[in-house]
Amino acid sequence: MLRFDGRVAVVTGAGRGVGAAYARLLGSRGATVVVNDLGVSPTGTDPSGGPAHEVVAEIEAAGGRAMADTRSVASPEGAEGLIEATIAAYGRVDVLIHNAGRVHGNYDELRTLNMDATHWLTEAVWPHMLEADYGRILVTTSSAGLFGTAVGTDYNTLQGYGAAKMGALGHTRSLAIRARSTGIKVNAVSPHAYTRLAAGLEQTPELAFMATHSTPERVAPGSVYLVHESCPVSGEIFAIGAGRMARIFIGETVGYVNPDLTIEDVEDNFAAIMNEAGYHVPRDMSEITAIYRKVATGQ
Ligand SMILES: NC(=O)c1ccc[n+]([C@@H]2O[C@H](COP(=O)([O-])OP(=O)(O)OC[C@H]3O[C@@H](n4cnc5c(N)ncnc54)[C@H](O)[C@@H]3O)[C@@H](O)[C@H]2O)c1
Repeated sequence: MLRFDGRVAVVTGAGRGVGAAYARLLGSRGATVVVNDLGVSPTGTDPSGGPAHEVVAEIEAAGGRAMADTRSVASPEGAEGLIEATIAAYGRVDVLIHNAGRVHGNYDELRTLNMDATHWLTEAVWPHMLEADYGRILVTTSSAGLFGTAVGTDYNTLQGYGAAKMGALGHTRSLAIRARSTGIKVNAVSPHAYTRLAAGLEQTPELAFMATHSTPERVAPGSVYLVHESCPVSGEIFAIGAGRMARIFIGETVGYVNPDLTIEDVEDNFAAIMNEAGYHVPRDMSEITAIYRKVATGQ
């Protein structure tokens, strides 16, 4: 059985939905869980300590250890304060899951919680994880950004939300490279769960499937594995929901090469440019030139 005895895990937005499922599972496997949640409505109003304290009470009732933290992580002070409070209480942070997120709000609000908080939280925890030469960080992205979404031709908040979640992914990828020579691993999850977040969207047949199949409890095992000591990967993205876990990757087609490329060549060879056969999956930016060279010279 995979356990977290002796580990301290910080989970943001852990008072409800997916984050609460993470916190309960971590607590049941021996982690000391810092349950952070501002306890706000989907639009960010009416903060309440209720959700965070309720999840802490559930973990403790099941025999686990947990601490509530009710600050907002959508500011540098809040994000840093959460990590400082955890260090003050337990002297370590082994696991950070930045799960708090929102789809409703103005552009700045969406960016601040979904993307900027990823930066503030990971930078705050980084020195502690480097010193320990150990850490597991899980960032939350979304299919809204990875694959795009829209409702009609007008701007919808899902667009700003998706863009911010891609910003969070950008932090993830570079953090994973920074961590290569260390015991820290950083991955991203794109969850699929029928929570109040999904319930608040326009209801479609897909959402009806989610309502019956995609519980937060079916996301938690995949994400919690990614923050376990035995997680074998870093810099990866996973789709998790409805009991399914799959890798998402960013690839480049082999493409078409001609040093004397003209716009007519582009038109004539567009099928080759689009052809997915033999695609490359670059591990980082340094591989990009190598791919150009390989395709251009065969070496
Ligand atoms: N549910 C899905 O299908 C889905 C899909 C893709 C991505 N996500 C992402 O997964 C994460 C969890 O989503 P969910 O569906 O469980 O949402 P949810 O709304 O049920 O829970 C989010 C929690 O975050 C808390 N929160 C909001 N602002 C906060 C702040 N500033 N500081 C601290 N806590 C704050 C809320 O009080 C709430 O309890 C989010 O990042 C979301 O964007 C969810």
